[in-house]
Amino acid sequence: MIKLHNKYFKPFISAKKIDDALQRMASEIAEDVGDEIPVFIGILNGSFMLTSDFVKKYPKTCEVTFIKLASYEGVKSTEDIQRLIGLTQDLTDRTVIILEDIIDTGNTLNEVYRIFKNEKVKSLKIATLFYKPEAYKKDFKLHYIGIEIPNKFIVGYGLDYDGLGRNLPEVYQLKEPQYMTNLVLFGPPGAGKGTQAEFLKEQYNLVHISTGDMFRYNIKNKTALGMLAKSYIEKGALVPDQVTIDMLNAEVEKNTDANGFIFDGFPRTNAQAEALDALMHSKDSQINAMIALEVDDEVLVQRLLERGKTSGRKDDANESIIRNRIKVYYQETAILKEYYAAQNKYYGVNGVGSIKDITVRLSHTIDKI
Ligand code: IMP
Ligand code: MG
Repeated sequence: MIKLHNKYFKPFISAKKIDDALQRMASEIAEDVGDEIPVFIGILNGSFMLTSDFVKKYPKTCEVTFIKLASYEGVKSTEDIQRLIGLTQDLTDRTVIILEDIIDTGNTLNEVYRIFKNEKVKSLKIATLFYKPEAYKKDFKLHYIGIEIPNKFIVGYGLDYDGLGRNLPEVYQLKEPQYMTNLVLFGPPGAGKGTQAEFLKEQYNLVHISTGDMFRYNIKNKTALGMLAKSYIEKGALVPDQVTIDMLNAEVEKNTDANGFIFDGFPRTNAQAEALDALMHSKDSQINAMIALEVDDEVLVQRLLERGKTSGRKDDANESIIRNRIKVYYQETAILKEYYAAQNKYYGVNGVGSIKDITVRLSHTIDKI
């Protein structure tokens, strides 16, 4: 594995495979052009390495030149316009073959056809060493393709990650973060969920995502998703699950160094549990367990009444309100308990005792998972 800037990359395509693909492309192209002397045009920077290796394998006479893809700041600051520059040679009646390192969305090809619009070439063909079919969004024909790859970010053999990696003789693939321990934490009001989440976070290098905090953060900071959520809340409507999932996704992606997550306050329905599974699945991870702190109702009522004496929280001061909150909790979580139990992922942990005792019980449970 290698590290470039802050990201890890794992070996993906060997130098031998690249060599074989270039050999095959060179033979195919040589056969197709017949007696013509083609002009190979490499697109810099990415194509410098492949162009050099390719033309060494090309069995007949040819010309080689380069054009360069340069970024310009667009009119708006968010817009990044890529322009091809450096086409100075007269290519009238020539057989031109573009050598690309990689074709992703196909935007660069747009530029290729734009700069060749007024050139009276005999033919213009596209050859690319790497091609991402899932990302390609254009209709231009790709005449020669070396290796098809999935829609993952790669470096090496001319390709860079923010300037680094071009010199590597083989190709590496971005290593997705590994989220090993992903817990859904439940507990009735007064069970000590917040306190225990703090410990678990430290002990297992997890990130605690409380959906309530997440909403408040996004709304306060006026993020696009926060504003969207707010528009529903102001209408008195429920925030659609997709908005919450998108926020969770952003939180997860912010924390690529974490070992995993403690989800708190989400999911609350079957549909949400399924959506969370799908989200984790898209990150090559999964929810490992639902952990529920179990505390007897009478103990909870006593704890909350006690807390109400000092916290000033109105909902902690009244016994019938407390009992109702506990009842709602069990009604809500019953379906989820079933959902995770059906996958053997439900773990009930005794939440009565000292903070330390409960932490130890939780750790034992997590270590077993
Ligand atoms: P396209 O214009 O979207 O087809 O993308 C082509 C350009 O994007 C390439 O010339 C690269 O500079 C860059 N690119 C696309 N995918 C990758 C990748 O996986 N690694 C490094 N650069 C890439
Ligand atoms: Mg390129």
